[in-house]
Amino acid sequence: MGEGAPLVAGNWKMFKRPSEATAFCAELAPRLAGIEGVAVAVCPPFTALPAALAGLVGSVVRVYAQNVHWETEGAFTGEVSAGMLVELGVHGTVVGHSERRQHFGDTDSTVAWRARRATEAGLTVIACVGELEDERVAGRTEEVLERQVAAIAGAVVERGQLVVAYEPVWAIGTGRVATPEQAQQAHEFIRGLLDVPILYGGSVKPDNALELLSQPDVDGALVGGASLEVESFAAICEAAARSSRS
Ligand code: PGA
Repeated sequence: MGEGAPLVAGNWKMFKRPSEATAFCAELAPRLAGIEGVAVAVCPPFTALPAALAGLVGSVVRVYAQNVHWETEGAFTGEVSAGMLVELGVHGTVVGHSERRQHFGDTDSTVAWRARRATEAGLTVIACVGELEDERVAGRTEEVLERQVAAIAGAVVERGQLVVAYEPVWAIGTGRVATPEQAQQAHEFIRGLLDVPILYGGSVKPDNALELLSQPDVDGALVGGASLEVESFAAICEAAARSSRS
């Protein structure tokens, strides 16, 4: 574990309407009241950001977006700028999630631009990297990570606001979690390229969180499926708090 408390961020993806976000936050805030030794964030869809922000006022849980554009404004239909998020009160944003890279054309360059503009606007950025299964099988994991991390490192000046999430694509939403050794190996490699907090993501659940989070170079978790229920998300946050005490 590096400096500082671990971060557990819940990536809701395209789940939860504003009303559902309100109900979730009303349960989550008291559930995590008083938790120490862990930083917690939720990443709702854009439409549920105001509901989450309102529902988490006074709570330890911060609110992040799932994506952000690199221009301040303009003819970019369907995109949202960093300034728009800042004005809402959003604390940070995810960029470069593998689903954005796979389905929406994000590249190392666009991910780097998004990360740069968001940090310039004062947002904390969780920048996602990770190899495809074919790339791992072909022994190309480190080459892929090096390319993805270099793009982000080259673009972001404010390293204090940058977090990397290592998410092996074959472990996302599949239930096939990386072994703690595989996660540690990749995190150690990334740390050698860029010394910022590094979250692990990919099928993190209450029953595997503590072991993953106890690895020396795992500084937190980016949680998809298990972040959609208060009980499983809170259990992962508690595991992270325990890992920071041990
Ligand atoms: P998962 O998703 O926990 O459902 O595997 C992780 C992510 O995509 O961030």
